[in-house]
Amino acid sequence: MSDKCKKVYITTPIYYVNDVPHIGHAYTTIIADTLARYSRLVGHIDDVFFLTGTDEHGQKIEQAAKARGKSPQEYADEISGRFKELWDEFEISYDKFIRTTDEDHMRGVQKAFEVMYNNGDIYKDVYRGHYCVSCETFFPETQLIDNEFCPECGRSTTMVEEESYFFRLSKYQDKLLEWYENNPECILPKSKRNEVINFVKNGLEDLSITRTSFDWGVKLPESINDPKHVMYVWLDALMNYVTALGYGNDEKLMDFWPAKVHLIGKDILRFHAIYWPAFLMSLGLKLPKHVAAHGWWTRNGEKMSKSKGNVVNPKEIADAYGLENFRYFMLREVPFGQDGDFSQKALIDRINSDLGNDLGNLLNRIIGMSGKYFDFNVKSDGVKTYHSTELEEVESILSNIEEYLYEIQTNRYLEELWKTLRIANKAIDTGMPWAKMKEGKEDEAMATIALVANILAKVAVLLHPFMPKTTQKIASAIGFEINTESYNKIIKNNELLGDFKIEKIPPLFPRIEEQQLLETSTQKSETVKEEKKVKMEENKKQNDNESGANLITIDQFFQTQLKVGTVVEAEEVPKSKKLLKLQVDLGEEKPRQIIAGIKEWYSPDDLKGSQVCVVANLKPAKLMGMLSEGMLLAAKDDDGLCLIRPEKSRKPGSSIG
Ligand code: MSP
Repeated sequence: MSDKCKKVYITTPIYYVNDVPHIGHAYTTIIADTLARYSRLVGHIDDVFFLTGTDEHGQKIEQAAKARGKSPQEYADEISGRFKELWDEFEISYDKFIRTTDEDHMRGVQKAFEVMYNNGDIYKDVYRGHYCVSCETFFPETQLIDNEFCPECGRSTTMVEEESYFFRLSKYQDKLLEWYENNPECILPKSKRNEVINFVKNGLEDLSITRTSFDWGVKLPESINDPKHVMYVWLDALMNYVTALGYGNDEKLMDFWPAKVHLIGKDILRFHAIYWPAFLMSLGLKLPKHVAAHGWWTRNGEKMSKSKGNVVNPKEIADAYGLENFRYFMLREVPFGQDGDFSQKALIDRINSDLGNDLGNLLNRIIGMSGKYFDFNVKSDGVKTYHSTELEEVESILSNIEEYLYEIQTNRYLEELWKTLRIANKAIDTGMPWAKMKEGKEDEAMATIALVANILAKVAVLLHPFMPKTTQKIASAIGFEINTESYNKIIKNNELLGDFKIEKIPPLFPRIEEQQLLETSTQKSETVKEEKKVKMEENKKQNDNESGANLITIDQFFQTQLKVGTVVEAEEVPKSKKLLKLQVDLGEEKPRQIIAGIKEWYSPDDLKGSQVCVVANLKPAKLMGMLSEGMLLAAKDDDGLCLIRPEKSRKPGSSIG
C-alpha cells in the first residue's frame, strides 16, 4: 500500500449468502477495518471509503434457498442481514454495505456489460464444459480429477452445454503481464505475484460470462435483447467494487477509484488478479493499486468451511475473550498470506502474554509507582536527560513501522510495537525508580516513569486501529485522547506528553486460565484434550527436528521400497499436457501401470525398453481416472526434469538401497 494518495478506498470481498459468517470472513473484514481506521487516524478522515457487503446471486444461492423452501431473495435477505448484524456488533467501520441484489448495483453491472459488448469484448457462442456450482467456476476437462471432480473443492462438477456470451479474456493476456511487470506491488504478498504470472503465461481462454440454465442473476441489458441469459455471478460480484461508488448510476463517488486495496483470501486471487483487471481494462477504468491475498484459517490443518463442519463462530469467540483481544490475536498470530490454525489455547496465550504481561502490566506498573511516589502527577521534562538512549531507540523503531502496514504485514507491525514495550519494561528494571526514591534521586525516578508513560502513549496511538477502545482507555489513563491531532504530535513530531496526571483504571487484560477454554457450539465434539494432543504432537515434531535436523533412521528409509523397472509400453494420455501412461516390468507377474507427469521432457519412444527407478510400495492412486501403481524417481531443476536410472542394466525388480 506504499503510495500515499489522498483518497483511500478499501474493500473486503462480498460474502456469499449461502453460509453464515465464520472467523475466516471475520479475518478479512478485521484486516480491512484496521487499515481503514489507520488511514483515518493518520489524517485521511473524510477521504477513506471502506466497502463490504454480500454476494447474493448464482446457482449456489438459488440451490441453498430451494433446499430451505425459501425464495432466493428471502434467503439472501436473511443471511445478508446476519453478516451486517455481525459487522455492526463488531463495530466494523464500513462506509457502505453493498448487496448484489441492490437495484443500482444491478443497473451498474448491466451498464458495464453494455460497454464491454459495444467495444467488441463480448461475443456469443456455445459453452461446453464442466461447472462446479460450489466454486461457481468453469473447468476444462484436463483440470478435473478423475474426469469429474472439481480440482479446487473436490465436489462433483456438472457437464454444461449451453449458449453463452464470452468475454475476450485472451485478448488481455499481454496487457495483464505488463501490469504485473510494471507494478511489482500490485499483488500482495509479493510471492503470490509469481503464481499469477505463471498462470497467465500458460495462456488465457475466453471466459463464459452468462448462463441460461437458471434464473437467479442479473439480466442482460435491454439493448442486447436476450432475456434468457443471466450474468455469471463473478462478473456481477466483481463489479460491486465500482457500482458501490455509483458506476453506471450517479458516479458520485467515482473519485475514490481506483481502489487502494482489495483484501481477499487466496482462494479468490485468480478472479481478482486476472479477471477483474481485464474487465477494468475493457471498461477503460484504472486498475486497483493492490490486490492483497491472505491465507486461510484452518482447524487441525483443514480449511475452515461450513461444508466440513469445522467452522468457528467469531461472535462466540469475541464474547468469550473480548472482541479487541480477538482482533489483536488474528492480526498478530499469522503472517499475512500464510495459513493459520485456529486454537483457543494460542488465543489465550496471546492475551495472557502479549496483552496481559507486556502491555497491561506496564500500565499497572506506572499507575502504581506514579501514585505511590508522586500522587499520580507526572512530568516529562527529565526524560531526555536520563533516558535519551531509550527514547531514540523507540523513535527509530517507530519511524519505519508504517511500512509494514503498507505491505499488510500486521504481525510484523505488532512485533515492532512490542519491541518498544520491551524497552520500557527494561527501563523500569534497570532504572529501579523505587531504589532511586530511597536514594533521594526523585528526578531520575520521575524520568523513568515518564519515559514509560510516553512509550505507552506512542504504543496506544499506533495500536489504536487494531484495538480502538482498549487503546482509548490506555490514553485516557495517561491523560490524552487518541485522534489525528495526537497522532501528529506524539508519532509524527515525537513530542512528549509534558506534565500530566495518571488515572488509576482496573486491569485491562485479566488473566485467563486454560480451564476457561470455551466449548463453542461449532466444535462441541472437539475436546480440549484434542487441542492439547495436537500441541503435543507439534512439540514432539519440533523436538525431533531440533535434535535430529529432520534425520531419519535406516529402518525408516527401508520402509520405502525402491526397485529397478523396465518400461515395456509407453503412450501419451489423451488431452493431458503432462501425463504419459507406462507399463513397467518390476519382475512381478505382470507389468505395473504407472501414470507419470513427464510428457514435457520425454516422448513414449524415448522410454520404451529403457530402465527406470520406481517407488514400488506407494498406495495406488487415480490420475485422470487411470490407476497409477508406483512413481518414477526423477530430479528437477531450472533446466528441466531427468529420470534417475541405474548406471548399468539390472534385472527388473532388483531392489535399490
Ligand atoms: N462471493 C465471493 C467473493 C466475491 S468478491 C467480488 C466469495 N465469497 S465467500 O463468502 O466464499 O468468501 C469470502 C472470503 O472469505 C474469501 O476471501 C475467502 O478467502 C474468505 N474465507 C472463507 N473461508 C476462509 C477461511 N477458512 N479462512 C480465511 N478466509 C477464508 O468467495
